[in-house]
Amino acid sequence: MSEQIKPVRKAVLPVAGLGTRLLPATKVMPKEMLTILDRPLIQMAVEEARQAGIEEFIFVISSGKDVLIRQFECPQALMDMLEKRNKVEQIEKVKASSLPEGAIQTASQEVALGLGHAVWCAKELVGDEPFAVILPDDTVRHERSCLAQMMDAYNQHGGNIVATCEVDMKDASKYGMLDIASRDGQTVSVKGLVEKPKAEEAPSNMAIFGRYILQPEIFNYLDRHEKGAGGEIQLTDAMVHLIQDQPFHGFAFEGERLDCGSEVGFVKANIAYALDKDSISDEVAEYMMEKLRAYHEGKAMLGKSKKAAA
Ligand code: UTP
Repeated sequence: MSEQIKPVRKAVLPVAGLGTRLLPATKVMPKEMLTILDRPLIQMAVEEARQAGIEEFIFVISSGKDVLIRQFECPQALMDMLEKRNKVEQIEKVKASSLPEGAIQTASQEVALGLGHAVWCAKELVGDEPFAVILPDDTVRHERSCLAQMMDAYNQHGGNIVATCEVDMKDASKYGMLDIASRDGQTVSVKGLVEKPKAEEAPSNMAIFGRYILQPEIFNYLDRHEKGAGGEIQLTDAMVHLIQDQPFHGFAFEGERLDCGSEVGFVKANIAYALDKDSISDEVAEYMMEKLRAYHEGKAMLGKSKKAAA
């Protein structure tokens, strides 16, 4: 790493959103506690960050979401019980999913005013150093964590880096879309950013995905509390300003992106990770084939008959 590039030690995990797309599942339980197989989304996000060398985690939470922090504790009563029953494997699982005391700090966002506001709430805890942001409901399926891949690019280029991937132009209105100045392998130099444009107004087909490495100067713009798309304080609006002042890159990561905050993405993620897992993959694949056959014969829908596919 060049001497001018400051290391990234902290990750901000904004987890104060309402999760309306998955109601009623998220009525009581935070969206980030939903599990992909046996791991809550928040656990996957923390594991991803640890693979990238992150040691300090800043959770931006709202009241009633303390369970997200408890997930990383090592409960004595449970450990005693597991030890008494000699459940060695389970003991290791609990230990591996815990964080050392003090590794998590919390900032509070009592009203979900938008992602930009959530990140701003972490300002004091971040201080004057570069930091990562991970949106736990966006997951990337790959052997090397997405943030770790981004960290390699950061150590080479410095500045600010957002994860990016190509999307269908018809979906441009769902994402922040990059305006690209030049390309160099997986890294693109960014000259602008448009939040949720119409397909015909999108500057490229490269969308932002929920991973960021940002310089602390982003807070100069988040301090303004400007409302953007949907009446929310958007992180992308602050990034639009930052792009004018500092090097800003998009990083086309390797791996499958899955939006687990949507019903379809959540189901896809569970299927994909199940097929990755040796102990269950054969049984799951067999069940899926059986279901697909029935689906194509118009028999798979509970309580409904569906016309057989042509
Ligand atoms: P989303 O855009 O998925 O919003 O947030 P949401 O409110 O969680 O979910 P929907 O769209 O209503 O279903 C992306 C990430 O940013 C956090 C969320 O918790 C999620 O991890 N977030 C969003 C906040 O922490 N605060 C906010 O004000 C908005």
